[in-house]
Amino acid sequence: MIRVLSIFGTRPEAIKMAPVLLCLEQDKRFETKICNTSQHKEMVQQVLSFFKITPDYDLQIMTKAQNLTDLTSRILNFLTPVVRQCEPDTIIVQGDTTTTFAASLVAFYEKIPVAHVEAGLRTYGKLPFPEEANRRITSCLASFHFASTRANADNLKREGIPESTIWITGNTVLDSLNLTMETMATKSPVYWENKFGVASKHVLSSSEPILLITCHRRESIGTVLDQICEAIIQLAKAFPRVRMVYPVHPNPPVQKQVREKLRGIDNILLIDPLEYEPFIFLMKRADLILTDSGGIQEEATALGKTALVMRDVTERPEAIQTGLVRLVGTHTENIVSECTRLLEQPPACVPSHKENPFGDGQASRQIVEILAEALAGKRLLKRAS
Ligand code: UD1
Ligand code: UDP
Repeated sequence: MIRVLSIFGTRPEAIKMAPVLLCLEQDKRFETKICNTSQHKEMVQQVLSFFKITPDYDLQIMTKAQNLTDLTSRILNFLTPVVRQCEPDTIIVQGDTTTTFAASLVAFYEKIPVAHVEAGLRTYGKLPFPEEANRRITSCLASFHFASTRANADNLKREGIPESTIWITGNTVLDSLNLTMETMATKSPVYWENKFGVASKHVLSSSEPILLITCHRRESIGTVLDQICEAIIQLAKAFPRVRMVYPVHPNPPVQKQVREKLRGIDNILLIDPLEYEPFIFLMKRADLILTDSGGIQEEATALGKTALVMRDVTERPEAIQTGLVRLVGTHTENIVSECTRLLEQPPACVPSHKENPFGDGQASRQIVEILAEALAGKRLLKRAS
């Protein structure tokens, strides 16, 4: 059997790795080991419970308001003995977080091939910080590159990565989304009431428009987040009927700034991060989405929702090309004017983007098949030597 160690640590990695893990677990060619660095604690736990995934190793890395140097060195130090003990044939990582980059580096030092899921996203600038550097370093270290789109694959080829190591599989986020849509359909109103707590009467009644907000990027904390909060305040005053539902990321500086700035305004609902399934329910229910997230750009495209992205650049130009996702930058006036336009004249609802640029929801199956073929021979060679 091929022994695979999958490593993740944050919410988006767990969401996008989950369908790969579910496929691996059902495949008799693989012995599947799972390591959660717990770079995120509660937010990853939410995802693991939903997908019923139990890691073999939990590194318990997270500390309050962790800095990048400590986080990186803790992952390197805690993960190395796990990798040595597990002796996997390959290590799978996903995305562009510190866990992704540090796990790839450990694998490289231990001479274990890295398979990178969601490879080839680029802005070719310094932002987003530190994700652009994380994914570029991971590409240097990886042996298997699973790109979501042709443009992502082309980026890798231009950088000199051998074409024979790049596959276009689509993004595993669609596999997760499909699984979630299936479970969502089975849930009762009482279930949703419990999930949304104080926001439930607004979320579950269809009479109030909803602007869904998420914002967590490290580069935004401080001046930019102030500008964003100011925009939300102006919008809340201009549109008193619209409920601004904002699940606030648990990062302490984000919590402090957002809660200080936005408290006490009736139609701004600051709530805890939602579990994945209720979050998707809320995305579907929302009239407009305002975000600085990466993954939400892909999900909005798949759900046919309009999302305004509070950044100057995106590594996901495919989402922009659908017309559903738009960059609005981070200046108050621009965010307010674009949201105003869309709240006053809501765009026609698109059921779901017909030709989804992020694939067909079969990415995980393809990744597992490619790894099985590529590694079967290697395993035999290793045994023979
Ligand atoms: C991380 C990733 C970012 C990704 C984001 C998704 C890095 C450097 N950044 O950023 O690429 O977009 O996750 O959300 O890898 N915290 C909790 N509980 C949790 C999670 C976080 O309390 O479940 C708090 C902790 O105090 C922690 C802080 O949030 O120290 C920051 O977490 P961290 O993973 O370092 O950065 P993020 O901004 O979440
Ligand atoms: N998400 C969630 N609960 C929330 C907010 C987001 O489950 O309250 C999910 C969302 O559906 C998406 C992922 O988290 O799949 C995006 O995570 P985040 O924005 O933190 O990270 P990024 O994608 O920017 O790296």
